[in-house]
Amino acid sequence: MTKEQAAIRIEELSMEIEKHNYNYYVLSKPDISDYQFDQLLNELIDLEKEFPALIIPTSPSQRVGGDITKEFETVVHKYPMMSLGNTYSEEEVREFDERTRKLIPDEEYQYVCELKYDGVAIGLTYKNGILIRAVTRGDGVRGDNVTANVKTIRSIPLKLHGTDFPDEFEIRGEIIMHHKDFEQINEDRVEIGEAAFANPRNFASGTLKLQDSAEVARRKLDCYFYALYGDSLSFKSHFDGIEHAKKWGFKISPYIKLCDSLDDVFAFIDHWDNKRSSLPFDIDGVVMKVNLIRQQTELGFTAKSPRWAIAYKYKAES
Ligand code: IVH
Repeated sequence: MTKEQAAIRIEELSMEIEKHNYNYYVLSKPDISDYQFDQLLNELIDLEKEFPALIIPTSPSQRVGGDITKEFETVVHKYPMMSLGNTYSEEEVREFDERTRKLIPDEEYQYVCELKYDGVAIGLTYKNGILIRAVTRGDGVRGDNVTANVKTIRSIPLKLHGTDFPDEFEIRGEIIMHHKDFEQINEDRVEIGEAAFANPRNFASGTLKLQDSAEVARRKLDCYFYALYGDSLSFKSHFDGIEHAKKWGFKISPYIKLCDSLDDVFAFIDHWDNKRSSLPFDIDGVVMKVNLIRQQTELGFTAKSPRWAIAYKYKAES
């Protein structure tokens, strides 16, 4: 095979493999067998071995890992990674709403309710539709560059779908581990006489800091997204932005609700308090966010957290 022929085949294989990754890991609708998938991936890896000059950073082969990081580079966040204020009762949620109403008097507003994923925060930067950097929260001002590790997470797009994305933006989400994968890994560890990991969150956090990305690839992390940041984002509301991010290929939870009233918010909170044990991953509460970006801007931030959003935390599960 000539280099030109190899380039064409690599492009074909890459597109096909990423389509299957998306169907399997984002849509949960696999359309080929694991065996067929592995055949495509192996063909790609073999071709790239033969023509290493044709390996590009967005190649699906990058998801297998292999990079060893001695020390993670520290990166200053373009947008500080703040945390959310917490509430623990209906009364505190009502107080939050009172404060909101006083700050934007005479205005109608809606809340978006989302699950509060119990995982590890991550910020991904995309430039011209390509994932260029993944940074942990760190102290909120600066975090660790863990791009090589994050690229192994199959549900995270290395290249965006469509063309209508801004030249540069950041998307934030939570890296989590599904119960079934966590349990399997613990079973395997106990079998070889190693100590079991305490919980999926610590496991995900430890995994993200591993120096060997091939080991990260084996550990099956996943990621749900919940916030967009950028100087040229044109969405009028949080909900629109998040729905749009879905079209770019990001994994967005279907359990997100636009609420017209506090009663709707409480219904969402109660629903997931009862149903959270049926989710395949851990949540530790619900997040409510004022929907319109214009109103978010008006509400602004305190030193630590936004005034337009708050977390409602569930009692720890026993
Ligand atoms: S929005 C300005 N939405 O909870 C903060 N955060 O203490 C915007 N988290 O650092 C964060 N699920 O790691 C947001 N649906 C969700 C979330 C969520 C989990 C985490 C996130 C954040 C922490 C807040």
